[in-house]
Amino acid sequence: MTSLIIREASKQDRDAVIALWRACDLTRPWNDPDNDFGFALDKPSSHILIAFSPESGCDPTHAIGTIMVGHDGHRGWFYYLAVTPDQQGQGFGKQLLRAAEEWLLAKGIWKAHLMVRTGNEKVIRFYEDLGYNVSETQVMERWIDPSKRGDNA
Ligand SMILES: CC(C)(COP(=O)(O)OP(=O)(O)OC[C@H]1O[C@@H](n2cnc3c(N)ncnc32)[C@H](O)[C@@H]1OP(=O)(O)O)[C@@H](O)C(=O)NCCC(=O)NCCS
Repeated sequence: MTSLIIREASKQDRDAVIALWRACDLTRPWNDPDNDFGFALDKPSSHILIAFSPESGCDPTHAIGTIMVGHDGHRGWFYYLAVTPDQQGQGFGKQLLRAAEEWLLAKGIWKAHLMVRTGNEKVIRFYEDLGYNVSETQVMERWIDPSKRGDNA
């Protein structure tokens, strides 16, 4: 299996990362991807990891995948795990998830959570294969600032 080069994203990666998220159908009207990208990079408790194959080098236009990782001071969270559609099924998603776990461990966080949208349940088997369980916890939500709510939220 190809071992990916995985590094923290920089501002120069923004357009390529957002294009990848769109190609993987991860963007939604209520999550401005441009804002999400900048917000994660600006904070010490979060980052975006970006993956490249060793052959293509680390130019953002050759990005193979991403994962957003962060913690809230207690638990770790993952968002925007994406592998470009024509490169899926080669173990790259697994490498990105493991790299994000290492990122959390280095910050002293030993438990991670993620959310799977209704309609994307097929991805649950991928996470289960990598040791994740469907939690019995219910996630609740509220728009504290309703002006940020998109049309379909
Ligand atoms: C989810 C995603 C990141 C997985 O990436 P990937 O590179 O295709 O996955 P991998 O090749 O690393 O798979 C790792 C393991 O999970 C298994 N797996 C992957 N997708 C699976 C699926 N849909 N169902 C069951 N098992 C799956 C693989 O067989 C592999 O097992 P192995 O290591 O024993 O061979 C990719 O499919 C993707 O980008 N999907 C669209 C975006 C998305 O839904 N992201 C998740 C949001 S919660």
